[in-house]
Amino acid sequence: MRLGIISALHEEQAGLVEAMEGPAKLIHGKREFWVGRLWEIDAVCVLSRIGKVAAAMTATTLVEKFGVTHILFTGVAGAGDKTIRVGDIVVAESLVQHDMDASPLFPRFEVPLTGQTHFQPDQQLSLRLSGAAHAFLECDFLDTISETERQAFGLTQPRVHRGLIASGDQFVNDRLRIDALNGALPGLVAVEMEGAAVAQVCHELDVPFAVIRAVSDNANENAAHDFMRFVKSVAAQYAFHITRRLCRHLVEAPLQPRSESAGM
Ligand code: ADE
Repeated sequence: MRLGIISALHEEQAGLVEAMEGPAKLIHGKREFWVGRLWEIDAVCVLSRIGKVAAAMTATTLVEKFGVTHILFTGVAGAGDKTIRVGDIVVAESLVQHDMDASPLFPRFEVPLTGQTHFQPDQQLSLRLSGAAHAFLECDFLDTISETERQAFGLTQPRVHRGLIASGDQFVNDRLRIDALNGALPGLVAVEMEGAAVAQVCHELDVPFAVIRAVSDNANENAAHDFMRFVKSVAAQYAFHITRRLCRHLVEAPLQPRSESAGM
């Protein structure tokens, strides 16, 4: 396997490139692709930058030019439901582009001419990722997130959720908007700006993928408050240690080859 690891922001991927064995930097499409071994896994780390086009371009390049066989997207998201708290982790079970609307020509949210509104990540990889996230919260959370940061963000007993992630070219910072999205998209757990674009690309190129996000805000009027502090001091630790646990597990127990009908 060759694992492509995408994050939108530099701060979200802090430490991963440093942890690579024999990293080589290759520039393509105005992005730096770091190719090397991460905890014994052949990997390519890259920053997509923010938004669906940036993410789609990055995912396509990873597959077409760098030959990755699997894609992992790590980063942050706004809570998509009132039961989800800052510091919780969401792993996508399904992804939708919440700003896709070609109605009345096509149903709202449907990606025209694909017949699909929702795109499913690879079940095996997503299960491994949830496992790594649970292990992180149980074993690493208290050691890696300082008490100051835990108190600053009110992080008590964070949880892992699996569900629908909605992506759009919009930083959601409006209570009415997030409530409307929650009403229109049953099972919504988080909103962000890239995952569903990666999902569409991976669906079209038949590449298994998974998306994990640390919840940085409630997608309301306070969403931007202390955003970068959360990314640097909390989300980066989550991404680093969860990826480490995932890679180690993939070495110990490689993924089963997908059957014709599995995964999508
Ligand atoms: N990423 C993190 N928080 C977000 C939000 N509120 N809206 C969109 N993307 C986000």
